[in-house]
Amino acid sequence: MAVMRLHTLSLRALLLLGFWQTGRRSLASVPELKEQPKKIAVVGAGIGGTAAAFYLKQEFGPAVKIDVFESGTVGGRLATVKMGDYEYETGGSVIHPLNLHMKEFIEKLGIPPRKDVPSKMAIFDGKELVFEESDWFLINFFRLLWRYGFSFLRMQMWVESILDKFMRIYQYQQYGYSFSTVERLVHAMGGDGFLTLLNQTLEESMRGEGFSQVFINDIVSPITRVNYGQSVRINAFVGAVSLAGADSGLWAVDGGNKRVCSGLLYHTKSELISAKVTSISYTVRPSKKGGSTSFYEVNYVGESGAAHSLYDIVVIATPLHQGKSDITFSGLTPPIPSHYPGRYHQTVSTLVQGMLNVSFLGTTEPPSEFTVSEVLTMDSKGSVINSLSSLDPVHIPEGYKRPPASHTKVWKVFSPQPLTREQLDSMFLSYDSVSETQWLAYPTYRPPHRKIPPFILHDRLYYINALEWAASAMEMSAISARNVALLAHHRWHEQNRKIDQEDLHTRLRGEL
Ligand SMILES: Cc1cc2nc3c(=O)[nH]c(=O)nc-3n(C[C@H](O)[C@H](O)[C@H](O)COP(=O)(O)OP(=O)(O)OC[C@H]3O[C@@H](n4cnc5c(N)ncnc54)[C@H](O)[C@@H]3O)c2cc1C
Ligand SMILES: *[C@@H]1O[C@H](CO)[C@@H](O)[C@H](O)[C@H]1NC(C)=O
Ligand SMILES: *[C@@H]1O[C@H](CO)[C@@H](O)[C@H](O)[C@H]1NC(C)=O
Repeated sequence: MAVMRLHTLSLRALLLLGFWQTGRRSLASVPELKEQPKKIAVVGAGIGGTAAAFYLKQEFGPAVKIDVFESGTVGGRLATVKMGDYEYETGGSVIHPLNLHMKEFIEKLGIPPRKDVPSKMAIFDGKELVFEESDWFLINFFRLLWRYGFSFLRMQMWVESILDKFMRIYQYQQYGYSFSTVERLVHAMGGDGFLTLLNQTLEESMRGEGFSQVFINDIVSPITRVNYGQSVRINAFVGAVSLAGADSGLWAVDGGNKRVCSGLLYHTKSELISAKVTSISYTVRPSKKGGSTSFYEVNYVGESGAAHSLYDIVVIATPLHQGKSDITFSGLTPPIPSHYPGRYHQTVSTLVQGMLNVSFLGTTEPPSEFTVSEVLTMDSKGSVINSLSSLDPVHIPEGYKRPPASHTKVWKVFSPQPLTREQLDSMFLSYDSVSETQWLAYPTYRPPHRKIPPFILHDRLYYINALEWAASAMEMSAISARNVALLAHHRWHEQNRKIDQEDLHTRLRGEL
């Protein structure tokens, strides 16, 4: 992703970081009359499902048994592939410095962040590189100032003001507050202004803030294209997340981001069940003490055939959309569809080990001096690719230096369609291996949005990926996982005053 080394972290955000470190645990003093749940199922072992296992253990204590179902590989959209001697990220790759849950996970698991290798960005208009970052901060600063006036600085201030409000979620969650819908969660962070962000395009919002169309086309659109494979017509909330993804200080997990998922499973002593969940139904049974108890029956198909188990609580941690998962729900009112409306956007991630044809980028620089690592692209008619980046391995060996373009090395191309042989041949002078992954990567964002699916699907059946319709990112799945764990806990113990509280920001201000 893009890195523009011009950003400073907001002061308020840093204060919150301090708060985070010393923050206290939620409630616990409330007398708990009801027994804890015995068994919880989580469907999906991506970052959302494994983070849910972590927070569910935190809420319900060590005795609860958690089964995590996974039909593919642990990590889901966090995945690596091997090229030559090293592994490389092919899915979700970078994490923002203020993504506090991801930070907490690696600290708890004792996994270090990956060593930083400085990057250098350029923007390609389909014919040539129209902007190329220099190694010198001041040169970048004056180049941007020359072309766009203060737009660049104003954009950073705009994103920072949104990020400041976004950070409130950590305080709410620290105090144990949860939300039943995406709209309520987003409103608690930033009020009506945030709901408008959700319902407007990034372009509309930025035009409303006085940014020029030229600036939006030249700078903003390449950033949304690299991060979400889509234009500036995505919603302004995910747009702001995308622009924050152009901040400095982005990091990744040493050895691959998916290590967090397997680490969380191990840490929480969850049982990984390698099976595909096919259907979930609700059953009521007479209990020993008289009366009745109800369970969710999870039906699944694994290597040893079909089976089913009963659970007190079920958490769905995979998108309920076309092409993503097919789970049938039965015996539930109101009924839950297998697929909610809305599609996931295809991004093809092609890793190529080879030698780049730098003339393809219209540059006359000799390849031995071409050290750009991130090429973003403008939204032009003939543009085949969304981005091109020089990849570093998931673990940076001692003394590693990113080679220039004159060397054979690993490049990553994002494109909406698979690259043809001809396209590869024109971009690379030679290549010895190619690895292609076709992702249904993130929602196709088309605001205004009619209705985002709820976090609560049924009494004790929850859904994490609803929050992706505000924005899709590792941290968003983690935030949603914590929200769902809190919801599950409060609803189990009937503590409604921790759900959907209005005006939390004002009420908690005194608590800081
Ligand atoms: C190419 C690409 C680049 C990205 N870049 C970034 C980035 O730089 N930074 C960032 O923060 N985010 C990025 N993202 C987004 C990020 O990867 C996702 O938001 C995040 O990984 C979603 O995690 P999740 O656990 O919610 O879903 P998933 O990772 O999709 O996990 C769902 C899991 O459920 C499993 N499953 C599905 N159906 C069933 C079933 N019926 N039974 C059992 N298991 C089932 C799936 O196999 C999958 O493993 C990127 C995504 C892509 C694809
Ligand atoms: C490299 O790219 C240029 C410009 O697109 C093209 O004319 C040339 O044929 C390419 N070289 C190779 C070897 O494909
Ligand atoms: C978004 O806009 C649509 C259509 O204009 C409207 O129906 C919906 O209620 C709006 N949602 C929010 C959260 O404002």
